[in-house]
Formats: sequence, structure tokens, C-alpha cells
Amino acid sequence: MIFPRLVVAATGLALASTALAGEPEGARRAELVNMVRQDCGACHGYTLKGGLGPSLLPGALAERDVQLIESVILNGRPGTPMPPWRPFLSEAEARWIAEQLKKGWPE
Ligand code: HEC
Repeated sequence: MIFPRLVVAATGLALASTALAGEPEGARRAELVNMVRQDCGACHGYTLKGGLGPSLLPGALAERDVQLIESVILNGRPGTPMPPWRPFLSEAEARWIAEQLKKGWPE
């Protein structure tokens, strides 16, 4: 009788640790790829070449490390139009976005 519960608990733990490990996958990843093009693109340009906000292409971000980019995404830049995305993104997702921007945003 105890055994099925243990299985359920173990499954729950496995799911939780996948979520914590962070790299977004599947549908969430597709959602983020789209979100950056649409929502970030509204200010940074749909090709991320810059608009109201600066370019987010790899060349423009070469001098910025992933941690700084992650922090700007999560916290915004107070006093500028760059808003904080913390309500919408986990830290792992913001880090993933920062890493992908450094490499060149996926299509
Ligand atoms: C409402 C407009 C707006 C939106 C939406 C927006 N940004 Fe920004 N962003 C800005 C502005 C303006 C700056 C420049 C702030 C400054 O003067 O330091 C900026 C700065 C940045 C920087 C720092 C660039 C650098 O070279 O220092 C990063 C990285 C960034 N944004 C990423 C993003 C990402 C990723 C998103 C979407 C999740 C996003 N932004 C959405 C306006 C926006």
C-alpha cells in the first residue's frame, strides 16, 4: 500500500528537479523565442538590431557578460524604458535568453 505513494513522490521530485535545472524546453522554449522577437523586439527592433532600445545582436553584446544581461532582463534599467521581466521569467529562463542573445537569437 505504501509503494504506489513512493512512486508518486519520486515522480514529483523528478519533475521538480527538471524544472529547477532550468533550460527551457519544448513549448516554453518556443514561447520564449517568440516573446523575445515580439515583446523585446517592440523596443529593440524585430530583428533585434536596435530601436528605442539598443541592438541585442551578438556584436553589440560582445562586451557584456551573460550575468549582466540576465540581470538587466530580470530587473530592467530603472529610469529608462527598459522594464523588469522578473514577473514573467524565471532566473534560469533569463539566463537562457542572455546566452542565446550572445550566440545569436534562434529563428
Ligand atoms: C519598453 C521598451 C523595452 C522593452 C519592451 C524591452 N527593452 Fe530592453 N532596453 C530598453 C532600453 C531603452 C534600454 C537601454 C537602457 C539604458 O539606457 O541603459 C534597454 C536595454 C536592454 C539591455 C542592455 C543592453 C546593453 O547593451 O546594455 C538588454 C540586454 C535588454 N534591454 C534586453 C531586453 C530583453 C531581452 C527584452 C525582452 C525580454 C527587453 N529588453 C525588452 C527598452 C526595452
